[in-house]
Amino acid sequence: MGLFKRLVWKVQANLPSLHLSSRLRNPSTRLWLGNALNQLGVVLQSWGRNLILDLYPELTGEKYYSDLLRMHRAVNDELIRQRQNYPHFIYEQGYLYQAFHSIGIFGSRSTETRFVDYGLADLIHAGDRILDIGCNCGFMLVHTAYRTGCAGDGIDINPHMINIGKHVAEFLGVADRINLYAERFQDFQPTGKYNVIFSFASHWTDDEQLRPDFDEYLKQIHSLLAPDGVLVFESHTADIDNPEFDNQMRRQHKLYDWQESKILYNRRRELYIMRKKDPVV
Ligand SMILES: C[S@@+](CC[C@H](N)C(=O)[O-])C[C@H]1O[C@@H](n2cnc3c(N)ncnc32)[C@H](O)[C@@H]1O
Repeated sequence: MGLFKRLVWKVQANLPSLHLSSRLRNPSTRLWLGNALNQLGVVLQSWGRNLILDLYPELTGEKYYSDLLRMHRAVNDELIRQRQNYPHFIYEQGYLYQAFHSIGIFGSRSTETRFVDYGLADLIHAGDRILDIGCNCGFMLVHTAYRTGCAGDGIDINPHMINIGKHVAEFLGVADRINLYAERFQDFQPTGKYNVIFSFASHWTDDEQLRPDFDEYLKQIHSLLAPDGVLVFESHTADIDNPEFDNQMRRQHKLYDWQESKILYNRRRELYIMRKKDPVV
């Protein structure tokens, strides 16, 4: 192997031993560095692929690489606008809460991992209509639509996150099946029923903009579900081992049948798959 190649492999193999996460204790510095490194990676990847295209102009299907940087630029511009203009609490110090690794989007929570962990590929099918409450960038809905062929609506109070979701939906070619609305869930006027509703970490939000009465919230979701519809519900960290939350959940047995529940991510989240009981007894 050539000297250069050996050097590159050596640097690559030793990168994990830099232990950056323990050295950089300040979370905003870590996030800034993570985002900067990620952007560098995306630029290099895009540049490399476009170079390959120059070498092999007969290659097709490279829209992904020609549009990747444009999409990333649009996402970053929106993050800057959020930092400048958004009046409420900003998650993750202005970087993204939702990551989308397969298209190089840096964030705290991996959309692809959650899609697998929540079993969404088995639960959702082409033709289903999904509602994602407090969807943030809507990446869970966008990815689910991309993977399963479903359609759906996502609602979030933060217009900057919604704009990011629209850029990504457009990029992935699912924008015609997805509606992302920048509005409060409290004001949402649905146009029909949903087969599946996502409520992921959205029933008691850190920004204090969505803190409904729990029973009323689950009742409202029940009314939005089609017969036999499913609520996929992710808890907040503070709900784990919280007797009050356990009691609240127990009360929902009158509205829903439990399909499954599991603790995830080192006891930071609990996931429930709850099927609508219809008619309610
Ligand atoms: C903890 S994040 C969860 C995001 C997403 N559901 C997920 O799990 O990836 C809570 C989200 O709720 C949104 N939100 C807060 N108040 C809201 C409201 N009244 N209506 C709609 N969305 C709201 C926030 O903007 C934020 O994106």
